[in-house]
Amino acid sequence: MIAIGCDHGGYILKEQIKQYLSDKNIEYKDFGTYSQESIDYPDVAKPVCEAVVNGECKDGGILICGTGIGMSIAANKIKGIRAALCSNGYTAKMTKQHNNANVICMGARVIGNEIAFDIIDQWLNNDFMGGRHQNRLDKIDALENK
Ligand code: RB5
Repeated sequence: MIAIGCDHGGYILKEQIKQYLSDKNIEYKDFGTYSQESIDYPDVAKPVCEAVVNGECKDGGILICGTGIGMSIAANKIKGIRAALCSNGYTAKMTKQHNNANVICMGARVIGNEIAFDIIDQWLNNDFMGGRHQNRLDKIDALENK
């Protein structure tokens, strides 16, 4: 189960991504927002990330706002979240392999829907490499816990 959420700037892309996930029989839970009416992105980042951390959505989270920046800043404040702002398939592949990102963020005003779908594919279809990369994640955890 994947958690998905957006603010008003990401609403249209979120709906397109939901269709894409459905077409691939990938389960998701939509945490809103549900229209293009203005909202504050931390209000959606919070429940999406909590669902990832508590295991309700163990396959990770997708957050979309206008640039993806606000969502990524907010998401990375939540303990246990490694959120990556991705702008193409390469960054999505690398953030799974090297950073084991459990949330990906996208900017609906920055990328098109086909790039967004490629980001999702690369993130879902690659594996964390562990090894020296795990050492680095351990150091990030230490920063989070200090
Ligand atoms: C909303 O206008 C916009 O600020 C938001 O979607 C996002 O881009 C923030 O980082």
